[in-house]
Amino acid sequence: MANIKFWVVLVCISAIFFNTGNATRPRSSSRFPAILVFGDSTVDSGNNNEIDTLFKANFRPYGIDYHGHAPTGRFSDGRLIPDFLASILKIKHSVPPFLKPNLSDHEIVTGVSFASSGSGYDDVTNDVFQVISFPKQIDMFRNYTARLRKIVGERKAKKIVGGALVVISSGTNDISTLRMDKNDTRYQDFLLNKVQTFTKQLYDLGCRSMIVAGLPPIGCLPIQMTTKQQPPSHRRCLHNQNLYSHSYNQKLSRTLSLVQAKLSGSKIVYADIYKPLMNMIHHPLKYGFVETNKGCCGTGFVEMGPLCNPTTPICRTPSRYLFWDAVHPSQSTYHYLTKYIAKRVLPKFL
Ligand SMILES: *[C@@H]1O[C@H](CO)[C@@H](O)[C@H](O)[C@H]1NC(C)=O
Ligand SMILES: *[C@@H]1O[C@H](CO)[C@@H](O)[C@H](O)[C@H]1NC(C)=O
Ligand SMILES: *[C@@H]1O[C@H](CO)[C@@H](O)[C@H](O)[C@H]1NC(C)=O
Repeated sequence: MANIKFWVVLVCISAIFFNTGNATRPRSSSRFPAILVFGDSTVDSGNNNEIDTLFKANFRPYGIDYHGHAPTGRFSDGRLIPDFLASILKIKHSVPPFLKPNLSDHEIVTGVSFASSGSGYDDVTNDVFQVISFPKQIDMFRNYTARLRKIVGERKAKKIVGGALVVISSGTNDISTLRMDKNDTRYQDFLLNKVQTFTKQLYDLGCRSMIVAGLPPIGCLPIQMTTKQQPPSHRRCLHNQNLYSHSYNQKLSRTLSLVQAKLSGSKIVYADIYKPLMNMIHHPLKYGFVETNKGCCGTGFVEMGPLCNPTTPICRTPSRYLFWDAVHPSQSTYHYLTKYIAKRVLPKFL
């Protein structure tokens, strides 16, 4: 207790000393007043807990490295990129799901996630997994803005949405092995068309600053490697699937530049996660990883969602695994990816 008091006093003193020069400056130093998140399991902080789907992660061992070791619905052992971004940007510690019961006014004002695990840009994907489609996520966002207006008023609400950092991460669930093996480039164009539509809709609803994440090297996801039935000692990333992801990313980056040019006053920036993930796979020791081709949960070859549950044994140190389950990165990986984004992507908004 004494220690806590000591720190409180110290913090207050520092606050007095360092703030006297600019008393009029708002307390938060964030460039963005809020964070708004759309997409799939890479950015869903628990919306699927509230809907009827098999695609959930609100049970152990998910969340074992989260605050209080609590499963939250996040498909990882801990926090996700939007959580880390919200921290770095001094908005808040984590981004709650919009469907969380009893969301507080403060949580609304500083932003939420509308993302749904298992979802994609293509409606067919969402029907298969019975999850929240992109158009529905945008409907939820409309409801969100209505509540925001009730809390802070029309003018301030417009300012918050216009100033918010929007994070979009989707696409992996849309792309099947078949499409990648056939090098179906028309499907890439179909998805990119959707990206254009959705970013335009968000712009029309007032959003101005958006980060759109590209695809990971899909051929390096443990579950993809497993489908090729390589012997455990010879598991290798699938080259063609990586080429497909990479060429989609190149097109996405070009598409976003075009969209930004068309929407005046917008900043719509591509976030590359492919390159940093490949770097982690090629130089694991640099990141403290001992395992990059299987997940920490169970055998690491197939377990995810219901197969990664309280009865499934897990590895000793998830932070030394690139993948937490057979599909999703560990919190460590998300932390490194966030650092990469903070260095390469965020400066574009300044
Ligand atoms: C939500 O708030 C209401 C009223 O304050 C309370 O009765 C209810 O138990 C809360 N529900 C949850 C899930 O916290
Ligand atoms: C939006 O709010 C309306 C009215 O409260 C509700 O009926 C509808 O289900 C909500 N839609 C979404 C997608 O949350
Ligand atoms: C896929 O098709 C595109 C366009 O037709 C071509 O440029 C690319 O090299 C092809 N990729 C593979 C892996 O064959």
